[in-house]
Amino acid sequence: MRKPGQVFLVGAGPGDPELLTLKAARILALAQAVVYDRLVSDEVLAMVPPLARRIPVGKAPKSHPVPQERINEILIELALEGLTVVRLKGGDPLVFGRGSEEVAALAAAGVPVEIVPGITAAQGVASVTGVPLTHRGLASGLRYVTGHCRDDRPLDLDWSGLADPDTTLVVYMGAANIAEISTRLMTQGMPESLPVLAVACATTPRERRLVSRLDSIAEEVAEARFQGPVLFVIGRVVSLYRSCPAEVLAMLVARPLRQVAHA
Ligand SMILES: C[S@@+](CC[C@H](N)C(=O)[O-])C[C@H]1O[C@@H](n2cnc3c(N)ncnc32)[C@H](O)[C@@H]1O
Repeated sequence: MRKPGQVFLVGAGPGDPELLTLKAARILALAQAVVYDRLVSDEVLAMVPPLARRIPVGKAPKSHPVPQERINEILIELALEGLTVVRLKGGDPLVFGRGSEEVAALAAAGVPVEIVPGITAAQGVASVTGVPLTHRGLASGLRYVTGHCRDDRPLDLDWSGLADPDTTLVVYMGAANIAEISTRLMTQGMPESLPVLAVACATTPRERRLVSRLDSIAEEVAEARFQGPVLFVIGRVVSLYRSCPAEVLAMLVARPLRQVAHA
């Protein structure tokens, strides 16, 4: 029997190809097959070797054209052909990426697998906006939560635990439920004026940003009609966006984007 190839679970980062790790870029250049998600940017996909097989398995909200079980099978099948397979995932494969499920399936099939971390969307957003995720005196902790539940079940988050003004709350996949999320947090005592940052397509030329408050973020995000993935940062650290010196802000926004900042 032929020796199986190897699968690399590679974090593609939030979009800017320069945010790939050196290891990710090196392994991508060796790929014979690339199985990639919808959130992997065109700029990163442009780095896939021309002769590599490209297999899109993108999931969109409410639409999973290739079920996770089938993705696992595809990875195993390609590896059993003896190929070097890159499973390319947006951000980091182990942050809301189901990477661990794929590792388990590959390991059970006897396929060697290695994980290459990526810059998660939260870090990408922090770097381009200058909004830190923690800051002495403003946030002593940080939580990443999903704003979307499996099979569109109602959100089942620890709302009282999340309503902690000393902790920055980063909400992934929250665009459809931001009205409920903000309302629940206010019900638990979070101030209506707490600043919220929403960034779509962070670190790409399609990036758009909006700074709002907990009581108006849902309405303003709906009006902004963002396209693509959106990340929310909720907490006092967002106040630093406005106090960022003008020249630093100008440097940070020196990319084609539509910036919508509200007082
Ligand atoms: C399935 S999760 C994947 C997270 C990814 N593994 C990571 O580490 O960033 C998809 C969510 O990540 C966030 N996201 C990913 N890339 C983003 C980007 N470039 N800009 C804004 N949000 C992004 C959005 O909240 C999106 O709905």
